[in-house]
Amino acid sequence: ASKASVSTSVSSSVLQAAPCRCNAFLHRRGSRQPRWMVPWPPLLLLLARATPLPTAHNAFWGSVLSRARFEQSAALDAFCGEAFDEARFVDRTRLSGGVVLAVDAATDAQTRRPVVLKRAPEGMAIHLANELLPSLLNVSGAHVMTAAACFRGGVLDGVSSRVATYERMDGTLKQLLDRPPREADARLNYETHACFALQMMHQTLVGLAATHARGLVNQDLHAGNLLMRREGNYLRWRVADFGRACLVNASCAQRPGTQGIAPEAGHVPLTPASDVWSAGVMFLLVRCFAFEMWHRNGHRAHRDWMSRLNRAYGEAAAAAAARARSAAARVPIPTERERQAFENAAAAAARARAAPPAAWDNFTSLLDMLPKRCAPLAQHAGHEAPRENVLLAAMLALRWEKRPSASWLAVEFADLVRRRCLRAREPGKSNVTQIPRRPGDLEAVVKRMAADGFVKNRDARGSYYSRPGDATMYRSRAEVAQRLYLDGG
Ligand SMILES: Nc1ncnc2c1ncn2[C@@H]1O[C@H](COP(=O)(O)OP(=O)(O)OP(=O)(O)O)[C@@H](O)[C@H]1O
Ligand SMILES: [Mg+2]
Repeated sequence: ASKASVSTSVSSSVLQAAPCRCNAFLHRRGSRQPRWMVPWPPLLLLLARATPLPTAHNAFWGSVLSRARFEQSAALDAFCGEAFDEARFVDRTRLSGGVVLAVDAATDAQTRRPVVLKRAPEGMAIHLANELLPSLLNVSGAHVMTAAACFRGGVLDGVSSRVATYERMDGTLKQLLDRPPREADARLNYETHACFALQMMHQTLVGLAATHARGLVNQDLHAGNLLMRREGNYLRWRVADFGRACLVNASCAQRPGTQGIAPEAGHVPLTPASDVWSAGVMFLLVRCFAFEMWHRNGHRAHRDWMSRLNRAYGEAAAAAAARARSAAARVPIPTERERQAFENAAAAAARARAAPPAAWDNFTSLLDMLPKRCAPLAQHAGHEAPRENVLLAAMLALRWEKRPSASWLAVEFADLVRRRCLRAREPGKSNVTQIPRRPGDLEAVVKRMAADGFVKNRDARGSYYSRPGDATMYRSRAEVAQRLYLDGG
């Protein structure tokens, strides 16, 4: 099936199947659309026929926005009914505070757990509704940041507000990249821990797949919005910050974020494939470019490069739409109104299918460089390196419709993690779902140690293993496996 039909059916199944309170509101939209929303029924019909994809960024839908906002805030009322108890959340410190949302770290005195509070003044509550979309749509919280609770009332900077509470995570991928890799916790040493990038990517894709299955596109996935938490030996990743998220097929006021922006984002109808691009950019960053792009050049160069690609795509899409419009204008259609509608539909369809700039200067050379640039971690990947490169290149396909879905990629990455990381232990998972320890594990460790240049040495305390560029003295192969190859455990 084409991505177009997938997106359409995903979102209609969301509207039909997701058992949540907000869905009741989303549901009603179809059944009781007031006449003012459809000022031009024939045009709507024509557009619906001619463009198989949702036109999230089409100006035509502007009139529908206020209605959608009303519905979201009604969903929010239902979800955030309980009154906020100021005394319950103590030791508050501001993490980030914009005009719209304030993010505070705090402790929940009732549960004694560290939490994060996201608050919006009453007039801006609709922005919180966006943040709450994963919770409202019952997206699994395993790898998506869903709210633990939401309250109404409470005063923020002197103004009445709504408050959503979240489990507090240890930090973001960006915070990790902003400081040199820490030796102390081998799992966080993204430069040498080959499983870091794979596990991060696998969990991100699982989170995205869950989000996309509900018809929700994040639109702002980047290293600052990927949260990490140590749970015993397990490193958990969650996709966070749904402030710019949109439902496929619904009207959408949010613009995509610029940090990991996909080439087509904002130029073609909203597609989950744009999140897959952003995930690919993070994989590229951590697996291949972390040192150079982040530490030396800073991430601005990286962001500018993506913005330029996005602009170039926009120009290509606009040119394709203009060509389709003028071709449509030559078709004899009796009434002016229908001719206009036909032209609009043709232009929208051409936009959706627009080819990206054919040989976008830096891009092809970037892909050519992949195997070389990805060398530091690719060497750990051994014979799996080509497969990782293929997946990376597929996620970064210039044409959005060629990118694989997050759910397909999640399965591929799960397989890589299983092969490469030997064992993945997730707290709370029963033994049945755990990946069993296989008899070949020791053999695999020995092979990888040889590939990584480990040698056996001796000192007063006995024998130890060491490798070039790493001052650690590993006392056993088990220690090497635990610290570098296993999931930290
Ligand atoms: N659950 C959480 N646990 C720990 N830290 C969090 C959590 N949620 C948010 N943060 C921190 O707060 C910052 C801002 O949160 P978020 O990205 O959701 O809001 P934002 O409106 O996008 O703000 P910003 O523009 O600063 O990214 C994050 O970058 C992260 O450092
Ligand atoms: Mg953010």
